[in-house]
Amino acid sequence: MITQDQLKQQVAQAALDVILPQLQPESVLGVGTGSTVDRFIDLLGVHRDAFGAAVSSSERSTRRLQAAGIQVLDLNQVASLPFYVDGADEVDHQLNLIKGGGGALTREKIVASVADRFICIVDETKLVETLGRFPLPIEVIPLARESVAREMRQLGGRPELRAGFITDNGNQIIDVAGLAYGSQPAEFEALINNIPGVVTCGLFAISGAHLALVAGQAGIARLELQD
Ligand code: A5P
Repeated sequence: MITQDQLKQQVAQAALDVILPQLQPESVLGVGTGSTVDRFIDLLGVHRDAFGAAVSSSERSTRRLQAAGIQVLDLNQVASLPFYVDGADEVDHQLNLIKGGGGALTREKIVASVADRFICIVDETKLVETLGRFPLPIEVIPLARESVAREMRQLGGRPELRAGFITDNGNQIIDVAGLAYGSQPAEFEALINNIPGVVTCGLFAISGAHLALVAGQAGIARLELQD
């Protein structure tokens, strides 16, 4: 039995194997946040001379990248990213995601939006038929915490403030259980993002991943949508 930690290590290595042959000395990589990405960063450090620099989606990942000897650039200094590599809390077979368990969802969505290709790395516990088991993280401007929570109850959700947590952007997170997106996660994403005071929600469905690498007991599965 391969442990979840070992699966995270394996999928981090699989992502490196995909991107490494495609990197140029001037390439800048987008790097996500979380325990799976931590392993990816550690592996990436060994190959830091194979690419130019990284753009990070959190203060946590920035510290880890720098500790691995990788230069971290501000996104405003960068016009394009060939890859963005990040984990997820849930992935469905259409490569829609729920992210934000670590609270870095807004910067993750911004950096992912600039990348040519979003490679999502997960272990098989994250793969679902339909998104919704994992409570939806929503980053909110603190002033709007209660008004957004009321809107979430109207949608059938059970919002809970992530106590004591402040995002890298100085905001708060509401985790909303019980939302049913059915076959329309992109519509929900747009609806929630449009509520005043919402910075962004953790649905990545309007634009999801391009490739998901899923580590399981039987090896690494590749999920990729055909154009
Ligand atoms: C961070 O905010 C999240 O979006 C992470 O990508 C997600 O929670 C996955 O993290 P793990 O790799 O730690 O499970």
